[in-house]
Amino acid sequence: MSASLVTVSYIGATILFVLSLGGLSNPETAKRGNWYGIVGMAIAVLATVFGSRIVGGGDQPIVVGAGYVFIIIAMLIGGSVGLYAARTVQMTQMPELVAIMHSLVGFAACAIGFASYIDTSTVFPTHAEHVIHLIEIYIGILIGAVTFTGSVIAFGKLSGRIDGKPVLLPGRHFINLAGLLLVIWFGSLFMGAETIAGGMFPLILMTIIALAFGVHMVMAIGGADMPVVISMLNSYSGWAAAATGFMLSNDLLIVTGALVGSSGAILSYIMCRAMNRNFISVIAGGFGTTSTSASSASAAPAGEVKSITAAETADLLADSKSVIIVPGYGMAVAQAQHAVYEMTKLLRDKGVNVRFGIHPVAGRMPGHMNVLLAEAKVPYDIVQEMDELNDDFPNTDVAMVIGANDIVNPAAQDDPGSPIAGMPVLEVWKAKHSIVMKRSMASGYAGIDNPLFYKENNMMLFGDAKKMLDEVVATLKSK
Ligand code: TAP
Repeated sequence: MSASLVTVSYIGATILFVLSLGGLSNPETAKRGNWYGIVGMAIAVLATVFGSRIVGGGDQPIVVGAGYVFIIIAMLIGGSVGLYAARTVQMTQMPELVAIMHSLVGFAACAIGFASYIDTSTVFPTHAEHVIHLIEIYIGILIGAVTFTGSVIAFGKLSGRIDGKPVLLPGRHFINLAGLLLVIWFGSLFMGAETIAGGMFPLILMTIIALAFGVHMVMAIGGADMPVVISMLNSYSGWAAAATGFMLSNDLLIVTGALVGSSGAILSYIMCRAMNRNFISVIAGGFGTTSTSASSASAAPAGEVKSITAAETADLLADSKSVIIVPGYGMAVAQAQHAVYEMTKLLRDKGVNVRFGIHPVAGRMPGHMNVLLAEAKVPYDIVQEMDELNDDFPNTDVAMVIGANDIVNPAAQDDPGSPIAGMPVLEVWKAKHSIVMKRSMASGYAGIDNPLFYKENNMMLFGDAKKMLDEVVATLKSK
Protein backbone atom coordinates (compact mmCIF):
# COMPACT_ATOMS: atom_id res chain seq x y z
CA MET A 1 0.00 0.00 0.00
CA SER A 2 1.45 3.38 -0.98
CA ALA A 3 2.21 5.99 1.67
CA SER A 4 -0.39 8.37 0.26
CA LEU A 5 -3.09 5.68 0.43
CA VAL A 6 -2.13 5.02 4.04
CA THR A 7 -2.44 8.76 4.78
CA VAL A 8 -5.87 8.92 3.12
CA SER A 9 -6.98 5.83 5.09
CA TYR A 10 -5.75 7.40 8.33
CA ILE A 11 -7.67 10.61 7.61
CA GLY A 12 -10.79 8.55 6.84
CA ALA A 13 -10.37 6.57 10.06
CA THR A 14 -9.88 9.79 12.07
CA ILE A 15 -13.12 11.24 10.68
CA LEU A 16 -14.94 8.00 11.50
CA PHE A 17 -13.60 8.08 15.08
CA VAL A 18 -14.83 11.65 15.54
CA LEU A 19 -18.25 10.67 14.10
CA SER A 20 -18.23 7.65 16.40
CA LEU A 21 -17.72 9.80 19.50
CA GLY A 22 -20.46 12.15 18.31
CA GLY A 23 -22.83 9.20 17.77
CA LEU A 24 -22.10 7.70 21.19
CA SER A 25 -23.25 10.88 22.91
CA ASN A 26 -26.91 10.00 22.33
CA PRO A 27 -28.70 6.65 22.78
CA GLU A 28 -30.57 7.13 19.52
CA THR A 29 -27.37 7.40 17.49
CA ALA A 30 -25.17 5.18 19.67
CA LYS A 31 -25.51 2.10 17.46
CA ARG A 32 -24.47 4.09 14.41
CA GLY A 33 -21.62 5.59 16.45
CA ASN A 34 -20.41 2.09 17.28
CA TRP A 35 -20.44 1.13 13.61
CA TYR A 36 -18.42 4.23 12.68
CA GLY A 37 -15.88 3.18 15.31
CA ILE A 38 -15.74 -0.43 14.07
CA VAL A 39 -15.28 0.59 10.42
CA GLY A 40 -12.73 3.26 11.39
CA MET A 41 -10.72 0.75 13.42
CA ALA A 42 -10.86 -1.85 10.63
CA ILE A 43 -9.52 0.74 8.15
CA ALA A 44 -6.84 1.81 10.63
CA VAL A 45 -5.65 -1.76 11.24
CA LEU A 46 -5.65 -2.67 7.53
CA ALA A 47 -3.82 0.53 6.53
CA THR A 48 -1.20 -0.06 9.25
CA VAL A 49 -0.72 -3.76 8.49
CA PHE A 50 -0.44 -3.20 4.72
CA GLY A 51 1.43 0.10 5.08
CA SER A 52 5.12 0.61 4.34
CA ARG A 53 6.07 0.25 8.03
CA ILE A 54 5.36 -3.48 7.95
CA VAL A 55 6.47 -4.53 4.49
CA GLY A 56 9.63 -2.54 4.98
CA GLY A 57 10.00 0.98 3.70
CA GLY A 58 12.75 1.81 6.19
CA ASP A 59 16.41 0.96 6.30
CA GLN A 60 15.87 -2.56 7.56
CA PRO A 61 12.86 -4.05 5.85
CA ILE A 62 11.09 -6.75 7.79
CA VAL A 63 10.79 -10.04 5.95
CA VAL A 64 7.28 -9.78 4.55
CA GLY A 65 6.13 -13.33 5.22
CA ALA A 66 7.52 -13.56 8.75
CA GLY A 67 6.05 -10.17 9.73
CA TYR A 68 2.57 -11.15 8.63
CA VAL A 69 2.71 -14.53 10.35
CA PHE A 70 3.40 -12.80 13.68
CA ILE A 71 0.71 -10.20 13.08
CA ILE A 72 -1.92 -12.77 12.12
CA ILE A 73 -1.11 -14.97 15.14
CA ALA A 74 -1.27 -11.94 17.46
CA MET A 75 -4.56 -10.75 15.93
CA LEU A 76 -6.10 -14.21 16.20
CA ILE A 77 -5.14 -14.52 19.87
CA GLY A 78 -6.18 -10.94 20.75
CA GLY A 79 -9.36 -11.11 18.67
CA SER A 80 -10.44 -14.43 20.22
CA VAL A 81 -9.84 -13.20 23.77
CA GLY A 82 -11.73 -9.96 23.01
CA LEU A 83 -14.63 -11.80 21.35
CA TYR A 84 -14.89 -14.27 24.23
CA ALA A 85 -14.79 -11.47 26.83
CA ALA A 86 -17.39 -9.39 24.99
CA ARG A 87 -19.76 -12.32 24.59
CA THR A 88 -19.53 -13.67 28.12
CA VAL A 89 -19.25 -10.49 30.20
CA GLN A 90 -22.30 -9.60 32.25
CA MET A 91 -23.55 -6.03 32.00
CA THR A 92 -22.73 -5.59 35.70
CA GLN A 93 -19.11 -6.64 35.05
CA MET A 94 -18.61 -4.12 32.25
CA PRO A 95 -16.60 -1.60 34.34
CA GLU A 96 -14.21 -4.40 35.34
CA LEU A 97 -13.74 -5.36 31.69
CA VAL A 98 -13.11 -1.73 30.76
CA ALA A 99 -10.57 -1.40 33.60
CA ILE A 100 -8.64 -4.49 32.53
CA MET A 101 -8.68 -3.31 28.89
CA HIS A 102 -7.17 0.01 30.00
CA SER A 103 -4.40 -1.90 31.74
CA LEU A 104 -3.53 -3.53 28.41
CA VAL A 105 -3.16 -0.12 26.74
CA GLY A 106 -0.83 0.94 29.55
CA PHE A 107 1.19 -2.27 29.24
CA ALA A 108 1.44 -1.85 25.46
CA ALA A 109 2.72 1.72 25.89
CA CYS A 110 5.46 0.47 28.25
CA ALA A 111 6.44 -2.42 25.99
CA ILE A 112 6.58 -0.19 22.90
CA GLY A 113 8.56 2.41 24.87
CA PHE A 114 11.27 -0.10 25.79
CA ALA A 115 11.26 -1.55 22.26
CA SER A 116 11.65 1.94 20.75
CA TYR A 117 14.55 2.66 23.07
CA ILE A 118 16.56 -0.41 22.17
CA ASP A 119 15.63 -0.17 18.48
CA THR A 120 18.57 1.46 16.73
CA SER A 121 17.15 1.14 13.21
CA THR A 122 15.73 4.67 13.14
CA VAL A 123 18.29 7.32 12.29
CA PHE A 124 17.46 10.83 13.50
CA PRO A 125 18.66 13.59 11.18
CA THR A 126 19.21 16.08 14.02
CA HIS A 127 20.16 15.88 17.70
CA ALA A 128 16.95 17.75 18.62
CA GLU A 129 14.81 15.04 17.02
CA HIS A 130 16.68 12.36 18.95
CA VAL A 131 16.11 14.26 22.22
CA ILE A 132 12.39 14.60 21.44
CA HIS A 133 12.21 10.87 20.74
CA LEU A 134 13.83 10.12 24.13
CA ILE A 135 11.35 12.42 25.89
CA GLU A 136 8.47 10.64 24.12
CA ILE A 137 9.80 7.29 25.30
CA TYR A 138 10.24 8.45 28.89
CA ILE A 139 6.81 10.07 29.16
CA GLY A 140 5.11 7.24 27.26
CA ILE A 141 6.50 4.61 29.63
CA LEU A 142 5.67 6.80 32.65
CA ILE A 143 2.00 7.23 31.69
CA GLY A 144 1.76 3.62 30.49
CA ALA A 145 3.13 2.18 33.75
CA VAL A 146 0.79 4.29 35.93
CA THR A 147 -2.16 3.31 33.72
CA PHE A 148 -1.18 -0.36 33.82
CA THR A 149 -1.01 -0.91 37.57
CA GLY A 150 -3.72 1.68 38.33
CA SER A 151 -6.13 -0.18 36.04
CA VAL A 152 -5.21 -3.57 37.48
CA ILE A 153 -5.98 -2.29 41.00
CA ALA A 154 -9.22 -0.66 39.76
CA PHE A 155 -10.17 -4.03 38.24
CA GLY A 156 -9.44 -5.71 41.58
CA LYS A 157 -11.55 -3.20 43.50
CA LEU A 158 -14.47 -3.27 41.08
CA SER A 159 -14.57 -7.05 41.01
CA GLY A 160 -14.34 -7.28 44.80
CA ARG A 161 -10.97 -9.06 44.70
CA ILE A 162 -9.43 -6.08 46.53
CA ASP A 163 -11.16 -4.31 49.41
CA GLY A 164 -12.85 -1.07 48.26
CA LYS A 165 -11.71 0.86 51.35
CA PRO A 166 -9.01 3.45 50.67
CA VAL A 167 -5.57 2.40 51.87
CA LEU A 168 -4.01 5.54 53.29
CA LEU A 169 -0.32 5.15 54.01
CA PRO A 170 1.10 7.60 56.56
CA GLY A 171 2.70 10.55 54.76
CA ARG A 172 1.30 9.38 51.44
CA HIS A 173 1.51 12.82 49.83
CA PHE A 174 5.22 12.98 50.72
CA ILE A 175 5.72 9.51 49.27
CA ASN A 176 4.11 10.72 46.02
CA LEU A 177 6.19 13.90 46.04
CA ALA A 178 9.39 11.92 46.61
CA GLY A 179 8.37 9.62 43.74
CA LEU A 180 7.85 12.62 41.46
CA LEU A 181 11.25 14.11 42.34
CA LEU A 182 12.93 10.76 41.70
CA VAL A 183 11.16 10.44 38.34
CA ILE A 184 12.48 13.90 37.36
CA TRP A 185 15.99 13.02 38.53
CA PHE A 186 16.02 9.68 36.70
CA GLY A 187 14.70 11.56 33.66
CA SER A 188 17.75 13.80 33.64
CA LEU A 189 20.05 10.74 34.02
CA PHE A 190 18.19 9.02 31.18
CA MET A 191 18.48 12.00 28.86
CA GLY A 192 22.16 12.47 29.64
CA ALA A 193 23.12 8.78 29.16
CA GLU A 194 25.74 8.18 26.49
CA THR A 195 24.72 4.61 25.71
CA ILE A 196 21.51 2.58 25.64
CA ALA A 197 22.83 0.42 28.48
CA GLY A 198 23.53 3.57 30.52
CA GLY A 199 20.01 4.96 29.97
CA MET A 200 18.31 1.65 30.62
CA PHE A 201 19.03 1.69 34.36
CA PRO A 202 17.26 5.02 35.16
CA LEU A 203 14.48 4.06 32.72
CA ILE A 204 13.82 0.79 34.58
CA LEU A 205 13.94 2.54 37.98
CA MET A 206 11.47 5.18 36.76
CA THR A 207 9.19 2.40 35.48
CA ILE A 208 9.25 0.69 38.88
CA ILE A 209 8.34 3.98 40.60
CA ALA A 210 5.53 4.64 38.09
CA LEU A 211 4.17 1.11 38.58
CA ALA A 212 4.22 1.61 42.35
CA PHE A 213 2.59 5.03 41.99
CA GLY A 214 -0.28 3.51 39.95
CA VAL A 215 -0.92 0.98 42.74
CA HIS A 216 -0.62 3.59 45.48
CA MET A 217 -2.86 6.13 43.71
CA VAL A 218 -5.81 3.80 43.11
CA MET A 219 -5.45 1.95 46.44
CA ALA A 220 -5.90 5.34 48.18
CA ILE A 221 -9.15 6.03 46.34
CA GLY A 222 -12.30 4.86 48.07
CA GLY A 223 -15.25 2.95 46.67
CA ALA A 224 -17.49 5.98 46.20
CA ASP A 225 -14.96 7.64 43.90
CA MET A 226 -14.51 4.63 41.61
CA PRO A 227 -16.68 6.12 38.79
CA VAL A 228 -14.22 8.97 38.49
CA VAL A 229 -11.28 6.56 38.65
CA ILE A 230 -12.65 4.55 35.71
CA SER A 231 -13.04 7.60 33.50
CA MET A 232 -9.69 8.97 34.68
CA LEU A 233 -7.90 5.73 33.75
CA ASN A 234 -9.79 5.83 30.45
CA SER A 235 -8.25 9.25 29.89
CA TYR A 236 -4.76 8.04 30.95
CA SER A 237 -4.98 5.10 28.55
CA GLY A 238 -5.73 7.59 25.75
CA TRP A 239 -2.70 9.71 26.59
CA ALA A 240 -0.59 6.54 26.84
CA ALA A 241 -1.77 5.60 23.31
CA ALA A 242 -1.01 9.14 22.08
CA ALA A 243 2.50 8.91 23.58
CA THR A 244 2.93 5.58 21.77
CA GLY A 245 1.83 7.32 18.57
CA PHE A 246 4.60 9.89 19.05
CA MET A 247 7.17 7.13 19.68
CA LEU A 248 6.15 5.32 16.50
CA SER A 249 5.55 8.53 14.50
CA ASN A 250 2.04 7.26 13.83
CA ASP A 251 -0.31 10.21 13.33
CA LEU A 252 -3.48 8.15 13.61
CA LEU A 253 -2.45 6.75 16.98
CA ILE A 254 -1.68 10.28 18.21
CA VAL A 255 -5.10 11.55 17.11
CA THR A 256 -6.97 8.51 18.44
CA GLY A 257 -5.10 8.65 21.75
CA ALA A 258 -5.85 12.37 22.06
CA LEU A 259 -9.55 11.72 21.34
CA VAL A 260 -9.72 9.02 24.03
CA GLY A 261 -7.59 11.06 26.44
CA SER A 262 -9.65 14.23 26.12
CA SER A 263 -13.06 12.50 26.09
CA GLY A 264 -12.00 10.55 29.21
CA ALA A 265 -10.94 13.81 30.86
CA ILE A 266 -14.31 15.42 30.00
CA LEU A 267 -16.12 12.36 31.36
CA SER A 268 -14.07 12.57 34.58
CA TYR A 269 -15.13 16.20 34.90
CA ILE A 270 -18.81 15.27 34.34
CA MET A 271 -18.53 12.45 36.90
CA CYS A 272 -16.88 14.77 39.45
CA ARG A 273 -19.65 17.32 38.93
CA ALA A 274 -22.33 14.61 39.29
CA MET A 275 -20.82 13.62 42.61
CA ASN A 276 -19.93 17.13 43.72
CA ARG A 277 -16.29 16.12 43.94
CA ASN A 278 -13.13 17.97 43.11
CA PHE A 279 -10.86 16.11 40.69
CA ILE A 280 -7.70 16.86 42.67
CA SER A 281 -9.22 15.57 45.90
CA VAL A 282 -10.29 12.37 44.12
CA ILE A 283 -6.70 11.81 42.99
CA ALA A 284 -5.42 12.73 46.45
CA GLY A 285 -7.63 9.88 47.67
CA GLY A 286 -9.12 8.95 50.98
CA PHE A 287 -12.74 9.55 50.08
CA GLY A 288 -15.50 6.98 49.95
CA THR A 289 -14.65 4.90 52.96
CA THR A 290 -17.31 2.40 53.81
CA SER A 291 -17.36 3.63 57.39
CA THR A 292 -19.49 6.69 58.01
CA SER A 293 -18.22 9.82 59.67
CA ALA A 294 -19.02 10.65 63.27
CA SER A 295 -21.80 13.06 62.44
CA SER A 296 -23.55 10.78 60.00
CA ALA A 297 -23.18 7.81 62.30
CA SER A 298 -24.78 9.73 65.13
CA ALA A 299 -27.61 10.85 62.86
CA ALA A 300 -29.01 7.34 62.32
CA PRO A 301 -32.26 7.77 60.39
CA ALA A 302 -35.35 8.11 62.56
CA GLY A 303 -38.78 6.84 61.60
CA GLU A 304 -40.57 3.70 60.70
CA VAL A 305 -40.05 1.50 57.67
CA LYS A 306 -43.32 0.66 55.91
CA SER A 307 -43.57 -2.13 53.39
CA ILE A 308 -45.95 -2.56 50.49
CA THR A 309 -46.91 -5.58 48.38
CA ALA A 310 -46.56 -5.89 44.63
CA ALA A 311 -50.36 -5.89 44.21
CA GLU A 312 -50.70 -2.69 46.29
CA THR A 313 -47.91 -1.14 44.25
CA ALA A 314 -49.76 -1.96 41.03
CA ASP A 315 -52.93 -0.35 42.41
CA LEU A 316 -51.09 2.79 43.45
CA LEU A 317 -49.36 3.07 40.08
CA ALA A 318 -52.55 2.46 38.10
CA ASP A 319 -54.35 5.21 40.07
CA SER A 320 -51.58 7.74 39.42
CA LYS A 321 -51.44 10.46 36.81
CA SER A 322 -47.71 10.86 36.85
CA VAL A 323 -44.96 8.36 37.72
CA ILE A 324 -41.17 8.79 37.70
CA ILE A 325 -39.11 5.60 37.67
CA VAL A 326 -35.57 5.84 39.06
CA PRO A 327 -33.50 2.81 38.10
CA GLY A 328 -30.22 1.91 39.76
CA TYR A 329 -27.64 -0.83 40.05
CA GLY A 330 -30.19 -3.34 41.39
CA MET A 331 -32.14 -3.18 38.12
CA ALA A 332 -28.96 -4.22 36.30
CA VAL A 333 -28.29 -7.04 38.79
CA ALA A 334 -31.85 -8.36 38.51
CA GLN A 335 -31.87 -7.85 34.71
CA ALA A 336 -35.27 -6.29 35.28
CA GLN A 337 -35.19 -3.81 32.38
CA HIS A 338 -37.61 -5.82 30.18
CA ALA A 339 -40.10 -6.14 33.05
CA VAL A 340 -39.71 -2.39 33.65
CA TYR A 341 -40.56 -1.76 30.01
CA GLU A 342 -43.61 -4.02 30.19
CA MET A 343 -44.86 -2.20 33.29
CA THR A 344 -44.22 1.16 31.62
CA LYS A 345 -46.17 0.11 28.53
CA LEU A 346 -49.15 -1.06 30.59
CA LEU A 347 -49.21 2.16 32.61
CA ARG A 348 -48.89 4.36 29.52
CA ASP A 349 -51.76 2.44 27.92
CA LYS A 350 -53.81 3.38 30.98
CA GLY A 351 -52.95 7.06 30.40
CA VAL A 352 -50.34 7.40 33.16
CA ASN A 353 -47.50 9.81 32.36
CA VAL A 354 -44.40 7.66 32.97
CA ARG A 355 -40.87 9.05 32.83
CA PHE A 356 -37.45 7.77 33.83
CA GLY A 357 -35.01 9.80 35.89
CA ILE A 358 -31.39 8.90 35.26
CA HIS A 359 -28.60 9.86 37.64
CA PRO A 360 -25.19 10.32 35.95
CA VAL A 361 -23.55 7.74 38.25
CA ALA A 362 -26.46 5.27 38.53
CA GLY A 363 -25.26 1.69 38.23
CA ARG A 364 -21.59 0.93 37.84
CA MET A 365 -20.55 2.66 34.63
CA PRO A 366 -21.35 5.86 32.76
CA GLY A 367 -24.59 5.44 30.80
CA HIS A 368 -25.29 2.06 32.46
CA MET A 369 -29.04 2.68 32.87
CA ASN A 370 -29.44 4.23 29.40
CA VAL A 371 -27.90 1.15 27.82
CA LEU A 372 -30.21 -1.22 29.71
CA LEU A 373 -33.34 0.81 28.99
CA ALA A 374 -32.40 1.14 25.32
CA GLU A 375 -31.90 -2.65 25.20
CA ALA A 376 -35.44 -3.08 26.57
CA LYS A 377 -36.72 -0.62 23.92
CA VAL A 378 -37.94 2.01 26.38
CA PRO A 379 -38.69 5.12 24.22
CA TYR A 380 -35.81 7.62 24.46
CA ASP A 381 -38.08 10.62 24.87
CA ILE A 382 -39.30 9.47 28.31
CA VAL A 383 -35.78 8.81 29.60
CA GLN A 384 -34.56 12.05 31.16
CA GLU A 385 -31.49 13.27 32.96
CA MET A 386 -31.62 14.08 36.69
CA ASP A 387 -31.39 17.84 36.07
CA GLU A 388 -34.26 17.74 33.59
CA LEU A 389 -36.86 16.36 36.02
CA ASN A 390 -35.62 16.89 39.56
CA ASP A 391 -37.95 19.89 39.95
CA ASP A 392 -40.95 17.78 38.88
CA PHE A 393 -41.03 15.42 41.86
CA PRO A 394 -43.44 17.61 43.92
CA ASN A 395 -45.96 17.24 41.05
CA THR A 396 -45.45 13.48 40.79
CA ASP A 397 -47.82 10.92 42.31
CA VAL A 398 -45.39 8.02 42.60
CA ALA A 399 -41.60 7.98 42.42
CA MET A 400 -40.65 4.37 41.88
CA VAL A 401 -37.07 3.50 42.80
CA ILE A 402 -35.92 0.24 41.22
CA GLY A 403 -32.72 -1.14 42.76
CA ALA A 404 -31.24 2.31 43.41
CA ASN A 405 -29.93 3.55 46.72
CA ASP A 406 -27.10 6.12 46.89
CA ILE A 407 -28.50 8.21 44.04
CA VAL A 408 -31.75 8.81 45.98
CA ASN A 409 -30.18 9.30 49.41
CA PRO A 410 -31.41 12.56 51.04
CA ALA A 411 -28.40 12.48 53.38
CA ALA A 412 -26.40 13.91 50.47
CA GLN A 413 -28.37 17.14 51.01
CA ASP A 414 -29.19 16.98 54.72
CA ASP A 415 -26.11 15.53 56.40
CA PRO A 416 -22.89 17.52 55.87
CA GLY A 417 -20.96 14.68 57.56
CA SER A 418 -22.17 12.05 55.11
CA PRO A 419 -19.54 10.57 52.77
CA ILE A 420 -21.79 11.55 49.87
CA ALA A 421 -22.56 15.06 51.19
CA GLY A 422 -23.06 17.50 48.35
CA MET A 423 -23.60 14.83 45.68
CA PRO A 424 -26.66 15.84 43.64
CA VAL A 425 -29.40 13.22 44.08
CA LEU A 426 -32.86 12.52 42.63
CA GLU A 427 -35.30 14.05 45.11
CA VAL A 428 -37.80 11.17 45.07
CA TRP A 429 -39.00 11.90 48.62
CA LYS A 430 -40.64 15.09 47.30
CA ALA A 431 -43.16 13.03 45.31
CA LYS A 432 -46.55 12.26 46.88
CA HIS A 433 -45.41 8.65 47.42
CA SER A 434 -42.09 6.97 46.90
CA ILE A 435 -41.70 3.21 46.56
CA VAL A 436 -38.26 1.64 46.88
CA MET A 437 -37.87 -1.79 45.32
CA LYS A 438 -34.91 -3.70 46.76
CA ARG A 439 -34.28 -6.96 48.55
CA SER A 440 -33.37 -5.75 52.04
CA MET A 441 -32.37 -2.71 54.07
CA ALA A 442 -28.77 -3.20 52.93
CA SER A 443 -26.77 -0.14 51.94
CA GLY A 444 -25.66 0.67 48.39
CA TYR A 445 -22.22 1.19 46.91
CA ALA A 446 -21.20 3.99 49.30
CA GLY A 447 -22.01 1.73 52.26
CA ILE A 448 -24.22 4.23 54.07
CA ASP A 449 -27.71 4.15 55.53
CA ASN A 450 -30.51 5.79 53.55
CA PRO A 451 -32.97 8.03 55.49
CA LEU A 452 -35.37 7.83 52.50
CA PHE A 453 -36.44 4.35 53.65
CA TYR A 454 -37.75 5.83 56.90
CA LYS A 455 -39.67 8.77 55.45
CA GLU A 456 -43.39 9.17 56.11
CA ASN A 457 -44.41 8.94 52.43
CA ASN A 458 -42.02 6.10 51.53
CA MET A 459 -42.83 2.40 51.20
CA MET A 460 -40.48 -0.51 50.64
CA LEU A 461 -41.27 -3.25 48.14
CA PHE A 462 -38.87 -5.94 49.34
CA GLY A 463 -37.70 -8.58 46.89
CA ASP A 464 -35.73 -9.16 43.71
CA ALA A 465 -36.55 -6.35 41.26
CA LYS A 466 -37.39 -8.71 38.36
CA LYS A 467 -39.61 -10.92 40.49
CA MET A 468 -41.44 -7.98 42.05
CA LEU A 469 -41.94 -6.25 38.71
CA ASP A 470 -43.32 -9.45 37.19
CA GLU A 471 -45.87 -9.52 40.02
CA VAL A 472 -46.73 -5.83 39.49
CA VAL A 473 -47.14 -6.47 35.76
CA ALA A 474 -49.36 -9.51 36.39
CA THR A 475 -51.63 -7.42 38.67
CA LEU A 476 -51.75 -4.55 36.18
CA LYS A 477 -52.72 -6.99 33.40
CA SER A 478 -55.52 -8.44 35.50
CA LYS A 479 -57.05 -5.00 36.17
P1 TAP B 1 -26.35 1.45 44.81
O1 TAP B 1 -26.29 2.63 45.69
O2 TAP B 1 -25.16 0.59 44.71
O3 TAP B 1 -27.62 0.59 45.30
C1 TAP B 1 -28.06 -0.48 44.58
C2 TAP B 1 -29.12 -1.18 45.40
O4 TAP B 1 -29.66 -2.20 44.56
C3 TAP B 1 -28.57 -1.87 46.63
O5 TAP B 1 -28.84 -1.14 47.79
C4 TAP B 1 -29.25 -3.24 46.61
O6 TAP B 1 -30.04 -3.40 47.79
C5 TAP B 1 -30.16 -3.19 45.41
N1 TAP B 1 -30.17 -4.46 44.68
C6 TAP B 1 -29.13 -5.25 44.37
N2 TAP B 1 -29.55 -6.34 43.72
C7 TAP B 1 -30.89 -6.23 43.60
C8 TAP B 1 -31.91 -7.05 43.02
N3 TAP B 1 -31.60 -8.22 42.43
N4 TAP B 1 -33.17 -6.62 43.08
C9 TAP B 1 -33.49 -5.46 43.69
N5 TAP B 1 -32.58 -4.65 44.25
C10 TAP B 1 -31.29 -5.04 44.21
O7 TAP B 1 -26.72 1.84 43.32
P2 TAP B 1 -27.15 3.24 42.68
O8 TAP B 1 -28.22 3.87 43.48
O9 TAP B 1 -27.36 2.94 41.24
O10 TAP B 1 -25.89 4.16 42.86
C11 TAP B 1 -24.68 3.91 42.17
C12 TAP B 1 -23.53 3.88 43.16
O11 TAP B 1 -22.44 3.23 42.52
C13 TAP B 1 -23.06 5.28 43.53
O12 TAP B 1 -22.58 5.27 44.84
C14 TAP B 1 -21.92 5.50 42.54
O13 TAP B 1 -20.99 6.45 43.00
C15 TAP B 1 -21.32 4.11 42.49
N6 TAP B 1 -20.56 3.81 41.27
C16 TAP B 1 -21.03 4.27 40.08
C17 TAP B 1 -20.30 4.02 38.94
C18 TAP B 1 -20.82 4.61 37.67
S1 TAP B 1 -19.77 5.20 36.62
N7 TAP B 1 -22.10 4.67 37.43
C19 TAP B 1 -19.14 3.22 38.99
C20 TAP B 1 -18.72 2.71 40.21
C21 TAP B 1 -19.46 3.02 41.36
P3 TAP B 1 -30.38 -4.88 48.32
O14 TAP B 1 -29.10 -5.58 48.49
O15 TAP B 1 -31.12 -4.63 49.59
O16 TAP B 1 -31.25 -5.51 47.28
